[in-house]
Amino acid sequence: MEYQREAERRVRVGIVGVGSHSYRNVLPTLTYLPMELVAIADVDPDLGSATARQYGVQNAYTSATEMYANEQLDAVLLCVSPQLHPKLAIEAFEAGLHVWMEKPVATRVSEVDDMIAARGDRIAVVGFKKVFMPATEKAKELLALDAMAPLRSIVGVYPMNIPAGGQRAIDSGEASKWLADGCHPVSLLLEIGGPAESVTVHRGIDDSGALIIRHVNGAISNLHLAEKAPPFQPVERYVVFGGNQSIEIENSRKITYQRGTKLSYARGTSFTLPGTDSGAVVWEAQDGMNTLENKAVFTQGMYGELQYFADCVLSNTQATRANLEFARQVVSVYEAGLLSNDDAVQITDH
Ligand SMILES: NC(=O)c1ccc[n+]([C@@H]2O[C@H](COP(=O)([O-])OP(=O)(O)OC[C@H]3O[C@@H](n4cnc5c(N)ncnc54)[C@H](O)[C@@H]3O)[C@@H](O)[C@H]2O)c1
Repeated sequence: MEYQREAERRVRVGIVGVGSHSYRNVLPTLTYLPMELVAIADVDPDLGSATARQYGVQNAYTSATEMYANEQLDAVLLCVSPQLHPKLAIEAFEAGLHVWMEKPVATRVSEVDDMIAARGDRIAVVGFKKVFMPATEKAKELLALDAMAPLRSIVGVYPMNIPAGGQRAIDSGEASKWLADGCHPVSLLLEIGGPAESVTVHRGIDDSGALIIRHVNGAISNLHLAEKAPPFQPVERYVVFGGNQSIEIENSRKITYQRGTKLSYARGTSFTLPGTDSGAVVWEAQDGMNTLENKAVFTQGMYGELQYFADCVLSNTQATRANLEFARQVVSVYEAGLLSNDDAVQITDH
């Protein structure tokens, strides 16, 4: 990696929205990226100008339109809301800019289609951080091994629920929390399992329960909706089963490759069989030294998603990962999940 101050070529970016997430996570991550922050736009003028002062940015605007008209930008970072991202993204494409935008990109599949239609030759990447977690990259590397084939099933555990409400909830956008929370685990399940063919939701107490994805390749994902799990505790985990092996991702920071052992069921007396070609291989971020790999922006994939966007822009290459087509799949699962009530809702256009 290259720190921003060392980079010879940098993407000139403006940022739209310098609220909580942008200020806490996106702006600090720029230190590790070949991106130069040139201008800021936020409808809150005080927030915009105070943030501009802190980052040594000359101009803060109260509208993105004004910023595009007055600044020489290569790209824009949108960090506002799924209700506003479609309009802001289309406006940025029309101004000739490449776009990175936070999740969720939109509240309707049709809005993602509108963005795809407006994108033209511009590059668009969505901040699906879990797609870029180092643990996800490792899981994909392991899944390419013969011993992991075929991929059969994935279990995910995430603290969330999926409200009942059907088409009304889709039309009103009232289930946007399911979208905002759910797009994290769903993006990981789709990245590892591939596109979804159908979605089934079983709801229980407090709309907790399970969301089952049947992937096009035949694999099944089971997202356990752990509503009211102990707050701010390490609840999130994934287990991927393929061949006769498995991969476990816990709390984003630890990945375990379980290869099995040749234990004799009735007569084996030790679980520590000799040799190093069986049992588990574990990778875990240490948290004692001030290195980069243990920082949340790296373990959670925020650095990866933004670096990927910068790479695509600097090499003028269309994004193939976490792009708008992928975002469309995520929003399709969201809509199907709201429509399902113990029945499989087909996703026809995958
Ligand atoms: N990837 C993650 O882990 C993660 C975490 C938190 C939030 N997010 C996403 O980040 C986005 C922002 O969330 P937040 O919690 O920072 O919200 P926020 O409300 O704190 O910030 C939004 C900012 O956008 C500004 N804004 C609103 N309309 C605008 C417009 N038309 N033009 C310019 N600025 C405008 C607001 O004034 C505010 O400062 C959301 O899409 C959210 O889902 C992602």
